[in-house]
Amino acid sequence: MIDKYGRNINYLRVSLTDRCNLRCIYCMPEEGVQKLHHQDILRFEDVVKVVKATAKIGINKIRYTGGEPLILKGIDKLIHETSKIEGIKDISITTNGILLYDSAEELKKAGLNRVNISLDTLKEDRFYKITRGGSLKSVIRAIEKCISLGYGQIKINSVLLKGINDDEIENFMNLTKELPIHVRFIELMPMGEAFGIYEKGSIKCDEIIKKFDSLISVNNEKSSTAELYKLPNAKGMVGFIRPISCKFCEDCNRIRLTSTGTIKPCLHSEEEYDIKKYIKNEGILAEVLKKIISNKPSEHHLEEQGSLSAKMMYQIGG
Ligand code: 5AD
Ligand code: SF4
Repeated sequence: MIDKYGRNINYLRVSLTDRCNLRCIYCMPEEGVQKLHHQDILRFEDVVKVVKATAKIGINKIRYTGGEPLILKGIDKLIHETSKIEGIKDISITTNGILLYDSAEELKKAGLNRVNISLDTLKEDRFYKITRGGSLKSVIRAIEKCISLGYGQIKINSVLLKGINDDEIENFMNLTKELPIHVRFIELMPMGEAFGIYEKGSIKCDEIIKKFDSLISVNNEKSSTAELYKLPNAKGMVGFIRPISCKFCEDCNRIRLTSTGTIKPCLHSEEEYDIKKYIKNEGILAEVLKKIISNKPSEHHLEEQGSLSAKMMYQIGG
């Protein structure tokens, strides 16, 4: 569906839970995360209903995120149900990879096309510190398994953190020489827990692009959030995502559904619509969604104001 600024909105990102089995320093507080009650969270059957309604008005790409989506039982069934919906051409997940090794095969059989894996360091002790308790090994073997299973474009997302992982940028890039993966560096966004480390900890992608002059620029899809590069003769690509300094709002093609049943038309806007009450009625749901999409905000003002969203990253799914 085309919104009032002429953008073709065809991508729905669904945060299935705000819970996570890690506690990354820039995303979640160490302790005291308020848990939502079960009755406040959309059941998978409701998610399927919303996806069906959006598919009727032009959504053809679905991404399931969290928190961490793989902590949910029955996610394979949800993916299978999603794959049967007419019009849905691409199903992906964003995961921290901790539980992916064991489920990668089943999920692929269920209809999952692609995975994005968050990984901020290649050092075991550092991984433990950044994620407050995670094991790097489990993520690495999950990535290897996904490659061997023949998943579509595998993407590794790495948040740039000055003084924490900026000495590993080259190592990350070098992964693409032998592996057919996209390694994407993401500028830290000033929101939630990240506000505390933003001033000292943020790095701009431009600094890195300037430094590594062997990177060759590659064209990418317009609605992609990443600017793509390649090392000479590499099998994979290097991407840069700069949500702040270079806005992709003009070509934004996405909306978000949160686990509590609200639609967020823009990640950084306070605008949010509760659609839970309409889920039972297919006709009304479609009408409400059409209205929300059509009125999607033109752009965010992250640079001047920080994120205006009242929600944390683990509640929206990035
Ligand atoms: N800035 C940038 N990226 C973030 N993520 C979580 N919080 C932030 C932030 N403040 C990333 C995670 C994951 C994706 C879902 O969003 O590392 O890769
Ligand atoms: Fe969990 Fe991802 Fe947040 Fe880390 S960044 S705590 S893996 S939701």
